[in-house]
Amino acid sequence: MAAPTFTATPGTRDLLNPTTSRMRELVETFADEATKAGFGQIVPPMFEDLDVFVRLGESTDVVSKELYAFTDAGERRLALRPEFTASVCRAYVQHRPTTPWKAWYAGPAFRQEKAQRGRYRQFDQVGAEVIGSHDPDLDTELIALAWRFYARLGLSQVRLVINTLGDKADRPPFLDALTAHFTAAGDALSAESRATLEKNPLRVLDSKREQDAEIIATAPALADFLSDEAAAAFDRVQAGLRLLDVPFVVEPKLVRGLDYYTRTTFEFVSDALQSAQNAVGGGGRYDGLVADLGGPADPGVGFALGVDRTLLACDDEGVFGASDAELDAFVVDTTGEFAALRLVDTIRRAGLRADRAYDGRSMKAQMKAANRSGASVAVIVGPDEAAADELVVRPLRSDAEQRRVATSDLVPALRGLLD
Ligand code: HAM
Repeated sequence: MAAPTFTATPGTRDLLNPTTSRMRELVETFADEATKAGFGQIVPPMFEDLDVFVRLGESTDVVSKELYAFTDAGERRLALRPEFTASVCRAYVQHRPTTPWKAWYAGPAFRQEKAQRGRYRQFDQVGAEVIGSHDPDLDTELIALAWRFYARLGLSQVRLVINTLGDKADRPPFLDALTAHFTAAGDALSAESRATLEKNPLRVLDSKREQDAEIIATAPALADFLSDEAAAAFDRVQAGLRLLDVPFVVEPKLVRGLDYYTRTTFEFVSDALQSAQNAVGGGGRYDGLVADLGGPADPGVGFALGVDRTLLACDDEGVFGASDAELDAFVVDTTGEFAALRLVDTIRRAGLRADRAYDGRSMKAQMKAANRSGASVAVIVGPDEAAADELVVRPLRSDAEQRRVATSDLVPALRGLLD
């Protein structure tokens, strides 16, 4: 019987070159922006106590439907992280770094979602969090950091929408007013939204059902219920964004998919993405999450950007392509001896990129491989050259003439051609 074959499980993908090179470059670019802004990297574990993530809100899909939860051999209830913010707060409570603590991260997150273009069960995020300060300038600084990052990738069709969800204390009267409004709509509201209403009236605002659109449009606005402090903080964020020339639109119905948000929330939406999954990033304040995880009443603010979706947006805008010319030199060796083994080592130790053919192929096959490799120069050595301790360097991507050089002059000759 033939051995069974396997493919990556639904919602997961093998990322291969050149996607992986672009991903690495994207993360390096993000790390550079974050480092310039005083952030240090955190690498939290990929799984945690289930209860760490339950704090994201039991009425959110992320927790109620999408968590990869499991019990390990020690009977611990664990879950793969669906995002990083809860882990960063847990780490803050555990280590108590000095504040404001600025941490950036990159890595995979896991959610059991229905897979489609731009929505995967394992996806990558880059993000940044600041814990320990109420200063609204931090909200502005974080939004600007993400904005500048997108710009550096070359993206120009990303829109920023912002909102404020007020403080926890502003919520009860607003939620009462929302509940009254939606309850009065009766059966006109979709059955799904009526079920959501029971759990979290705020989330009904997130319904994309046409049936609910008008009822949502006339719903009370949180802006009318904000405390003076929350309103002033939101004003300052907007003034700061204007000052930094970061364009934005205030969207009073923007409700994010996680329950921990207070005050400023924001989302980056790509108009280039030809899919329903057009949010390339999002974030906001979470002034109660650290306390929910057993820590002090310290505030936090941050964002995460979807790496996979950001790359899709780059594809759709035709920017941030894979860099070509992966190789400087390709060694073609027909001596049947050790020339290729030695030469690629010499070239690589000089800091250049080199590859070669294997399996003792013919000159013709090796030259074909050299051309296919995208290398700038072929380094050719046959029995004649080897006897004279020489080689031929042949430019593959310019009209320059090939030259015969002494083996000891290979590296300077290559550098000359590459310049
Ligand atoms: P989020 O909006 O759930 O927020 O995720 C942030 C970004 O991750 C999304 O905008 C999207 O680009 C990407 N993303 C989410 N789910 C998927 C998926 N299934 N497949 C592909 N990409 C996905 C958070 O995760 C918060 N932790 C952000 C934050 C940080 N808030 C405060 N600090």
